[in-house]
Amino acid sequence: MKREIKLTSDGSRTIYLPELDETYHSNHGAFNEAIHIFIEQGIRMFSPEQTVRIFEMGFGTGLNALLTLIESKTRDYTIEYTGIEAFPVEFGLVNELDYCTYLNWDSPEDFTQLHTLTWGEKHQITPAFSFQKIHQKIEDYQPELNHFELVYYDAFGPRVQGDLWQPMILEKMHALLKPGGVLVTYCAQGQVKRDLKDLGFEVVSLPGPPGKREMTKAIKI
Ligand SMILES: C[S@@+](CC[C@H](N)C(=O)[O-])C[C@H]1O[C@@H](n2cnc3c(N)ncnc32)[C@H](O)[C@@H]1O
Repeated sequence: MKREIKLTSDGSRTIYLPELDETYHSNHGAFNEAIHIFIEQGIRMFSPEQTVRIFEMGFGTGLNALLTLIESKTRDYTIEYTGIEAFPVEFGLVNELDYCTYLNWDSPEDFTQLHTLTWGEKHQITPAFSFQKIHQKIEDYQPELNHFELVYYDAFGPRVQGDLWQPMILEKMHALLKPGGVLVTYCAQGQVKRDLKDLGFEVVSLPGPPGKREMTKAIKI
């Protein structure tokens, strides 16, 4: 599928899929979206005293993983990060996103490592940040049960990938979280929130990132 680089409103870049008319991040700001949903309402809701095991649905450009690695380095979080991705983006293209320059992050090798490390193996990027990428469809993934504290649910939207927002997949997210674990997503669709509730989550609607009224946080009861 053809992929193009696109500039978003906060000056950060994303990838655009013309055939689906879908972007990897919000047009209102890739960085703004990632930082608001996955960092401020995600990892920063946890104490740096505990290890946080994160599962990301849709590793994509690696922006969420990079921001989380930066959080670990700058705020002393101990993180075990697992990202699943069915259709990896070639490194040449993600490199053009130039996220480290945008973020003024002076260790660009962090981003390179996230993309070039081998799939299917656990890598210790720093003593406090372990990282594993799984090259698989979420539909085929057999989750480790009650293992993760936090899920970044970052699939393409229900308009283009409705199947990934069905109860069968959301149930996997419920199963892999520990009780008290949290799922955060940009999606605020009513049916998705009702399904999450029926699966046993407490569902909270929060203000969304710039350009979006709401986001969703779901806590496994
Ligand atoms: C919205 S983008 C993810 C953005 C990503 N979190 C980032 O920071 O760039 C959705 C991602 O899910 C991946 N994806 C699509 N279908 C999938 C599936 N069935 N299983 C796993 N990943 C899938 C896409 O290839 C894409 O990278």
